[in-house]
Amino acid sequence: MADYDYDVLVIGSGPGGYVAAIRAAQLGLKTACADGRATLGGTCLNVGCIPSKALLHGSELYDEAANGTMAKFGVKATGVELDLDVMMGEKSTAVRELTGGIEFLFKKNKVTWLKGYATFADAHTVVVADAKVTAKHIVIATGSSVTPLPGVAVDNDRGVIVDSTGALALNKVPGHLVVIGGGVIGLELGSVWRRLGAQVTVVEYLDQLLPGMDGDVRKEAAKIFKKQGLELKLSTKVTSVAASDGKATVTIEPSAGGAAETIEADVVLVAIGRRPYTDGLGLDAIGLAVNARGQIETDHDFRTSVDGVWAIGDVIPGPMLAHKAEDEGIAVAENIAGLTGIVNHAVIPGVVYTNPEFAGVGLTEEIAKGLYDIKVGKFPMMANSRAKTNREPDGFVKVIADAKTDRVLGVWIIATLAGTMIAEAALAMEFGATSEDIAYTCHAHPTHAEAVKEAAMAVRGKPIHM
Ligand code: NAI
Repeated sequence: MADYDYDVLVIGSGPGGYVAAIRAAQLGLKTACADGRATLGGTCLNVGCIPSKALLHGSELYDEAANGTMAKFGVKATGVELDLDVMMGEKSTAVRELTGGIEFLFKKNKVTWLKGYATFADAHTVVVADAKVTAKHIVIATGSSVTPLPGVAVDNDRGVIVDSTGALALNKVPGHLVVIGGGVIGLELGSVWRRLGAQVTVVEYLDQLLPGMDGDVRKEAAKIFKKQGLELKLSTKVTSVAASDGKATVTIEPSAGGAAETIEADVVLVAIGRRPYTDGLGLDAIGLAVNARGQIETDHDFRTSVDGVWAIGDVIPGPMLAHKAEDEGIAVAENIAGLTGIVNHAVIPGVVYTNPEFAGVGLTEEIAKGLYDIKVGKFPMMANSRAKTNREPDGFVKVIADAKTDRVLGVWIIATLAGTMIAEAALAMEFGATSEDIAYTCHAHPTHAEAVKEAAMAVRGKPIHM
């Protein structure tokens, strides 16, 4: 080992990288993590999950006070005002606290933070801030970056055509926000600005929102967001965006072709996906190729084709989700240490943090029925006592099971607490549960989670409250 500066060097300190580094250090390996951003935590903590959740929470409080159900419960709020600077300040405080938390954990676990972007010189050497650093094992955890829309120039500083980073830092509520892409980012950030008073139009190329989610969920999502005041232009593509004088003109036409029309916007958010980020890594120097989607391929243990080089997170195939990256971070460190690190990619929950939340784990009904004979149980949140009492009627729980074995293949939830409720479904599936296992598990009353039990009971046709 004396030949190398470190046992493990992780490139990138997002949820994949920082977790890999901490776990490697916990396992007794001398570990460094390179990141050139001013603070640790990658996209998720700095310009992704965390600041967006701060704004989702803040905007929900505002919307609730200004327009929500408080009055129904006799809570009278008059003169509710938005101070956007204060809301943005609170968001920045959360980001500072959490990124600082990673720095603290690095110190506690003796992980060295190499401040700079790493470029491979060879499979065991990178250059960081002009210094050569060697390691026996190098883990690529460089994440992803925003997919650009050809011909549309994002300029977050100007704040007219922005990506998610810009949309998290607008200095005033836009009169009209046009969101290109009806996926997770478009709906979360579209919701934030709609709640704060913007008119919001979402332009989605496909005929439904939220690609990848279950068909019922996608249909219901369109109904719910329309009811909330989002204008949806489905099966529609953007052909150009022209910005001038602090405004933008968006030209759209039907995805299948047809007459063009224009929409005037104060802000345009481009949210058409993310792509693996490998710029400046110098993969050529180690002979590591990316696939047609720009991803680094690995085996089940997260080894790349180059000995000693491993990869995890958004830069490899699979859903681009922080928690998937975190689990891969733990597994890769354990594999490097000679243990057995495994990630079950069939059970990775996904959550859209709007209100209600949309969550799923496992197979959609569309995919499941192509592979198995299935039985589906569905239970509406309207019939769940707690959701009904809280005046949160939107949504349902849907459990998809193998008709022959009753094993749960997928669970889909729309509910205010769907992101929390889905954990139970993931745990059940990880243990190979049947719908009967969930149905016969005692759930506390009155909770939203009882809807999961009732949907499981509905698989065999016997929910109580429906
Ligand atoms: P996405 O893949 O979720 O959605 C992009 C949408 O844009 C799709 O519906 C696609 O059909 C549409 N689209 C593509 N090209 C288009 C065009 N030219 N015109 C109109 N629509 C077009 O990607 P998004 O929302 O940008 O998110 C990026 C990544 O970040 C995703 O992988 C997502 O999982 C992750 N993310 C996860 C969050 C969460 O877990 N809550 C929150 C935010 C992002």
